[in-house]
Amino acid sequence: MATSTAPERTARKGPPSILLKTVVAVTGLFFVFFVLFHMYGNLQILVGTEAFDEYAHHLRTFGEPMLPEKSFLWVFRILLLASLVGHVWATMSLWRRAGAARTTRYAGKKKTSYGGFYAKAMRWGGLALLAFVVFHIMHFTTQTITIDGAYASPAERVITSFQVWWVVGIYALAMVFLGMHLLHGVWGAAMTLGLNTSLKRAEQIRFVSILLATIIVVGFLVPPFAILFGFIE
Ligand code: HEM
Repeated sequence: MATSTAPERTARKGPPSILLKTVVAVTGLFFVFFVLFHMYGNLQILVGTEAFDEYAHHLRTFGEPMLPEKSFLWVFRILLLASLVGHVWATMSLWRRAGAARTTRYAGKKKTSYGGFYAKAMRWGGLALLAFVVFHIMHFTTQTITIDGAYASPAERVITSFQVWWVVGIYALAMVFLGMHLLHGVWGAAMTLGLNTSLKRAEQIRFVSILLATIIVVGFLVPPFAILFGFIE
């Protein structure tokens, strides 16, 4: 005799969804740590161009003479790349899984429900951020994209770039995507890690995600706009 009315579950290939979600949450929180550190570094340009160049130089010489030049930078780069691969792989797997599970649309439900809107914003916003990071690395790190000729120092590269309005526009748009991704991402990571133990705690998590997203977006946007409006030259 049947004891349950729940539909029979078909065997699913691949790691359990909770493991995939944990990979998304942990790698996502590592990105939050990275962007905070990166934002702090960028803000050095408000102190002065020497301070910014010194910071860029320290990133490369950190740990010397015990460690070879750029070793700290390379450890960080490898961790970031591994996290990016993990984050994208796990989100894509969850994305495919959600698509496969939903064979029919819920009756009477509008296409863009609350949850559906956030899921779409996270996916497409995440892909937009990925495209931005590729552009950004080609701009500042490999310097494959040069906005205004050749540059002498990291600070000079940043200043000449952000004197161009459309470059500031691209970065500002990317920061809007970043803010939206953080807003829901920090919240989602806390849910996955089981930090929402009470209603009060859920409210605190919501507050922290809004605060972090605001600090990061404003902190990243201050240098480009300060340069565009001529406060730093
Ligand atoms: C207005 C916003 C931003 C500005 C002005 C900015 C500026 C810079 C600069 C100047 C560098 C080169 C540092 C150096 O080589 O000394 C750099 C590198 C980098 N940035 Fe940003 N950045 C911004 C936002 C972001 C965001 C939002 C992310 C990630 C989501 C990001 C990820 C990276 C990465 C991965 C590198 C390469 C680090 C390396 O391996 O050398 N940046 N950024």
